[in-house]
Amino acid sequence: MNNKKILVTGGLGFIGSHTVVALINKGFKVIIIDNLSNCHTEVLNGIQKITGETPEFHEIDLREKKKVKQFFEKNDDLLGIIHFAASKSVGESIKKPLMYYENNLCGLLNILSFQSSSNLIFSSSCTVYGEADKLPISENAPIKKAESPYGNTKQIGEEIIRDFCRVENDFKAIALRYFNPIGAHSSAEIGELPLGTPQNLIPYITQTAIGQREYLSVFGNDYFTVDGTPVRDYIHVMDLAEAHVAALNHLIEGKEETNYEVFNLGTGRGNSVLQVIRSFEKATGQQLFYKVENRREGDITAAYANVEKANKKLGWQAVRSLEESLKSAWEWQKRCVKHKKYRLYFL
Ligand code: UFG
Repeated sequence: MNNKKILVTGGLGFIGSHTVVALINKGFKVIIIDNLSNCHTEVLNGIQKITGETPEFHEIDLREKKKVKQFFEKNDDLLGIIHFAASKSVGESIKKPLMYYENNLCGLLNILSFQSSSNLIFSSSCTVYGEADKLPISENAPIKKAESPYGNTKQIGEEIIRDFCRVENDFKAIALRYFNPIGAHSSAEIGELPLGTPQNLIPYITQTAIGQREYLSVFGNDYFTVDGTPVRDYIHVMDLAEAHVAALNHLIEGKEETNYEVFNLGTGRGNSVLQVIRSFEKATGQQLFYKVENRREGDITAAYANVEKANKKLGWQAVRSLEESLKSAWEWQKRCVKHKKYRLYFL
């Protein structure tokens, strides 16, 4: 195949940048669109150091209809689109609902309206399942009422794409429902850059271990789980990135059963917060200070994926261990405090 041009929106973000690396590793030519709202252009250098290539980069906000239209007019030979660009903080979305609906949904609408490729991968989340009735969670588990505007944008995003695929028979899309992505590329050249105080467990752990936070708050130990703390399916971000390449190839090779499909992406294994803490200590040799506090509002007891569908149909499975993921997050954290451009993120 000569044309291997893939557009990655949000390609400088956490999952986006790792997916760009996975795409380049497989010989794709990547074009990135990002509005730089939650990332740094330095990430391009990280990608270059890992792959030897600097992807073409366009600073575009996908809400700007005209610019999106112009971009697709100029790039009318794309083989696929992977759409990550979106705001992703649950807490922030509760405070700024309109911003979340506008950013996450208008961007998607503009892409669907003007796209110049009929293969789309959409970044969705296991948040659509809420507190599932059955574990592990499979793709046909019922969708629960969203707990936050962020979660709602993922549900509505999926519905918009599904409805679009119903009428556009030549258009094909896959929604990937991520469980909990963690870790960083093994080179420590790219990773997660949380703005301000991290909301997610792993960046909070690494920032505590490096001495930037006094201690980790464990939000509740009275859940009905193995040790009372909530259980999640933590997946290495490079495993997740490689799943995007597999999903894209699935569409390119015409292996889809219908023109809109949904896949869970996880490891299939659940770990509690205390298990993650112990695993981190073992993987890094760092002792972590933590205190058990009250439950965090909106948290569910347990979520881990049934990944049979992705294993069978995409020919993909997560291969990296929890310890490897945590070790890579720690290497990235150490790298960041030394890195001139990234240090600012960790004040
Ligand atoms: N936790 C702590 N202390 C912290 C941070 C988190 O104990 O400082 C616990 C949480 O209570 C939870 C677990 O660690 O039990 C994981 O929390 P994260 O915030 O890392 O992840 P969540 O599972 O809450 O949220 C993730 C994504 C969301 C997505 C959601 C879907 O971050 O974007 O999964 O369920 F919506």
